[in-house]
Amino acid sequence: MKEKLEQILAQALDEIQAAEAKEALEAARVRYLGKKGELAAIWKGMGQLSAQERPVIGQIANEVRGKIEAAIEEAGQRAAEYEMERKLRRERLDVTLPGKKIPIGKKHPLTTVLDEVTDIFVGMGYSVAEGPEVELVHYNFDMLNAPKTHPSREPSDTFYISDDIVLRTQTSPMQARVMEKTQPPIRIIAPGRVFRNDEADATHSPMFHQIEGLVIDKNVTMGDLKSTLETFAKTLYGEETSIRLRPSYFPFTEPSAEMDISCFKCHGKGCPMCKYEGWIEVLGCGMVHPNVLRACGIDPEEYSGFAFGVGLERITLFRYKIDDLRLLFENDERFLKQF
Ligand code: DAH
Repeated sequence: MKEKLEQILAQALDEIQAAEAKEALEAARVRYLGKKGELAAIWKGMGQLSAQERPVIGQIANEVRGKIEAAIEEAGQRAAEYEMERKLRRERLDVTLPGKKIPIGKKHPLTTVLDEVTDIFVGMGYSVAEGPEVELVHYNFDMLNAPKTHPSREPSDTFYISDDIVLRTQTSPMQARVMEKTQPPIRIIAPGRVFRNDEADATHSPMFHQIEGLVIDKNVTMGDLKSTLETFAKTLYGEETSIRLRPSYFPFTEPSAEMDISCFKCHGKGCPMCKYEGWIEVLGCGMVHPNVLRACGIDPEEYSGFAFGVGLERITLFRYKIDDLRLLFENDERFLKQF
């Protein structure tokens, strides 16, 4: 039995020595020290030994157990180091590899110009109002004093969702929405998408953007409108820019006007950009019609105001001298990267 124990010890130590991973050590522990292990078998056989032999063998068996435990303990530390090394090797980071390039996006030209326009007006004390793109006929036309027979109401011009709901054709309904809710003084711009039943070409798109402006207070005059628009034009297109107002018609303003700016390319001399006029049309504007004020619960005897509506695409095309509106909506990176 003594030889058997020595043999078990030698075999166990060999096995523990050879084990690299924790799993192999655990297997050795179960095989030699476990309840059904080799040493347990020896203890079971002790009953057959004589009374003199029993303590001797018992002592040797205990020593063998102690040595195997110590060997496993020591090998356990080795295995942990081995594990760590293997992990480090697996997770090694080569800091000399070139990094992955993350392309950085930039603002769309429409966003850049809208941000600039917003800054100009916020700088003059305006706040920004936003409203629905799917709009009631009530706000898009009725509240804006548009005659029931106005051609812009036709389905050939306007996208109808139902008889009384449209995709807004202008940001002007925001005038009524704001005036209904707010007592003067009012100073807002309202940028947003608008929709019209138009074929897309170099100057038209069924979806585009407008920026509406509205000022209501006591004693607001056309002079205020003109100086405001002049500041706007000079900030956006340069100090040398002049403006002119031409009489026009919109149902919700009286008087109404179109604003032109002096051509930024030829400075008024005449060139293909301005079709040899020296002037370029930029926006519609006017003094808010008393009917509109009244419909919104504002007394036209006490208050007056002006409004304007700018096409964002139009001023962006001028700004960057782009000659086709469609380029703004194609999302071609080669085009957009240039701005
Ligand atoms: N809503 C008009 C359009 O889409 C533009 C416009 C004209 C807006 C005059 C205004 C304004 O606020 O006073 O053609």
